[in-house]
Amino acid sequence: MRRDARARAGAGFTLLAAVLAGASLPAQVPKRRVIGMSQCNLGEPWRQQMNADVRKAAASHPGLEVVFKDAQNDSLVQRSHVEELVSQKVDLIIISPREAAALTKPVAQAYEAGVPVIVLDREVLGDKFTCFIGADNRRIGRAAGEWVRQTLAGKGRIVELEGLMTSTPGQDRHTGFREGLDAAKNPGLEVVFEADMQWLEPNARREMESALARFRKIDLVYAHNDPGAHGAWLAARAAGREKEMRFVGIDALPHEGLRYVRQGILDATLEYPTGGAEAVETALRILAGEKVAKKIVLGSRLYTRANVDAGGTAIPAGAKAGDKKGAGR
Ligand code: FRU
Repeated sequence: MRRDARARAGAGFTLLAAVLAGASLPAQVPKRRVIGMSQCNLGEPWRQQMNADVRKAAASHPGLEVVFKDAQNDSLVQRSHVEELVSQKVDLIIISPREAAALTKPVAQAYEAGVPVIVLDREVLGDKFTCFIGADNRRIGRAAGEWVRQTLAGKGRIVELEGLMTSTPGQDRHTGFREGLDAAKNPGLEVVFEADMQWLEPNARREMESALARFRKIDLVYAHNDPGAHGAWLAARAAGREKEMRFVGIDALPHEGLRYVRQGILDATLEYPTGGAEAVETALRILAGEKVAKKIVLGSRLYTRANVDAGGTAIPAGAKAGDKKGAGR
């Protein structure tokens, strides 16, 4: 008998608790939201950092879940990931696309199906997406070119190891670099060897071996990312020639490029922010019904051996091509 009474009282408390919880439900339990994050590759430390930044930013928002996909550097796989995320009815997609043209259609289809899409770091073609977030690669390339022009005092043989030239950062880091170098006015600066290492360190090392075999003297290697610059340095060191030339890269992760600068492997690196935290913040604003800018441009920094311990110098976002102000000077 007493057991029954206790059971009844217990049930009553449970009901009361449920009613109380129910009364405060809208304020305390945020709506569950799912973001699909389509990453083109997780082979490089920079992309692992991007995912970590997304994960960390999302963790402070209860109810927000991120589903991560890794296309392992295959544009067709990435395309099917975007399609899968749409059919899974995620609330929003963040994509860092491997290539521009190949990923334009699936992004446009997702957008037209009503799924907001944030394109992160590498661009797609056209304007069928909600928002693009990334640093200005042309500006970064130009700052690299200006630094090289000044450092080589207008004279030297240069090797350029390019990122995947079907991706927009590769194209822009190349165009900007040539603008900054201004070889028309500095005929002593010569890019003697140019190759697409597709962002990958082993490819950069192989291409650099060819450059070393062809040229008796090389003054500087500009690689579109730090893994590329490091691969080139490994090739030069294996040939006993790493002291003969300077090495410049892009990304400036603390545990990668900045460490290489401190170790004396790289002479300079330019920061390429992942934009992961900004993407999550922007996603939340979109999901809350706010209108966001079509393009959010992030700043960068130039780090050299001379300034790395002081935190580098700013390359502000938003300056136009041709505007020389603040290019890391
Ligand atoms: C990583 C990476 C970075 C580079 C970025 C450009 O995959 O190659 O090193 O800065 O992609 O999109």
